[in-house]
Amino acid sequence: MTDPERTAATLLVRHADELVTLAGHGAAPLTGAALGELGVIPDGAVATAGDRIVAVGPSDLVERSVTLADDARVVDAHGKTVLPGFVDPHTHLVYAGTREREFPLRLAGASYLEILHAGGGILNTVAATRAADEATLAQRTRERLDTALRHGTTTLEIKSGYGLDTATELRQLSAAQRAGRGHAVRTVTTFMGAHAFPPEFRDAPERYLDLIVEAMIPAVAHGGLATFCDVFCEEGVFDVAQSRRILEAGRAAGLRPKLHADELASSGGAELAAELGAVSADHLVYASDAGLAAMAAAGVVAVLLPGTTFSLMGSHYAPARRMIDAGVPVALATDANPGSSPTESMQIIVNLACLQLKLSPSEAIAAATLNAAHALGLAHEVGSLEVGKRADLLVVDAPSHTYLAYHYGTNLAERVIAGGRVAWQRNGPRSEDRP
Ligand code: NIG
Ligand code: FE
Repeated sequence: MTDPERTAATLLVRHADELVTLAGHGAAPLTGAALGELGVIPDGAVATAGDRIVAVGPSDLVERSVTLADDARVVDAHGKTVLPGFVDPHTHLVYAGTREREFPLRLAGASYLEILHAGGGILNTVAATRAADEATLAQRTRERLDTALRHGTTTLEIKSGYGLDTATELRQLSAAQRAGRGHAVRTVTTFMGAHAFPPEFRDAPERYLDLIVEAMIPAVAHGGLATFCDVFCEEGVFDVAQSRRILEAGRAAGLRPKLHADELASSGGAELAAELGAVSADHLVYASDAGLAAMAAAGVVAVLLPGTTFSLMGSHYAPARRMIDAGVPVALATDANPGSSPTESMQIIVNLACLQLKLSPSEAIAAATLNAAHALGLAHEVGSLEVGKRADLLVVDAPSHTYLAYHYGTNLAERVIAGGRVAWQRNGPRSEDRP
């Protein structure tokens, strides 16, 4: 019964009150006023075949343009919003142990860097991670990927940086890759040996740099363990010259540069990201105007992490409006990690981006999907609902994208479709589904 002229769809999601496509933006990330252009289609539909999108548009047109495969699944999204799966371009998902013991200390006034310099913070997680084997790390990471998926994330980046020795950094990256293999969430890995100075090198920081450049980076590249190389470029951690050395060595080995930049103080990170043509610079709470102008000129994506500022009880959030006015492409991420941002939910990040970064709901959703895909160099594959792209999409229990951004603290995801398959759905009967 398949008309050879028409594509046989394996999944049809139809009659969404709002279908958020983010279509038609070409190869560049969204900047300035275009950041809010979501391409919303009322009564919209998406059809997929295998893992690809084959039709997107008003429901009547989509239904006319495809036939259904015999075992096709049809989802009625009446009363719901449908949008691209979230892309989370900055997480530290592979670790052992937890850090809730720091929480009361921070509530009582201890700062993040004070705890780190006293041997806690990141170094606590380093001790637990060094003691964990690869299978345990992979299993914990898989569980966190499950949580991210349930909340609507379909692509996610994972950094190392809790090993700080060659063996553990490599084990973390292998565990991250192992967790991602066969998982519905598509994962990308980043080497971040320059996350902190390990205690055994406290008195010889340059020797730790030598280890990163001479041993870790070649081993990561040789093993095909990462796409990106990241550095915590910050006063009191890795300075600009040290960060440049590591990122240039990474780039020479085929790892594209990313930076944790200007998170706690203006440290020259935004300027360095522009100089190196980094894929993204992340955090940027204290980025200088000159640094932002340089990032805009170089097309570096700013990945903003409002969950971190929130969880660290910061009084300053990243100057997102200034960035947008300056023409910097802005994306959002969870920064999921056990210390400064213990969450896997992009939904809460979208909400915080509105409340604290002063993004509009449209801007926040674009920043969490298409621009976030650009922050991983994956916008040709994911981040928008367009024919030919991967069929990663969400049905959310919200009558509009504005509702999705406004209603916080509960999971609005109802169905998460990854690679054309329903990877997760809320419990309960779905009488509208066929067959
Ligand atoms: O992005 N800034 C440095 N690193 C992480 C935090 C990691 C941790 O505290 O375990 C961040 O916030
Ligand atoms: Fe981070």
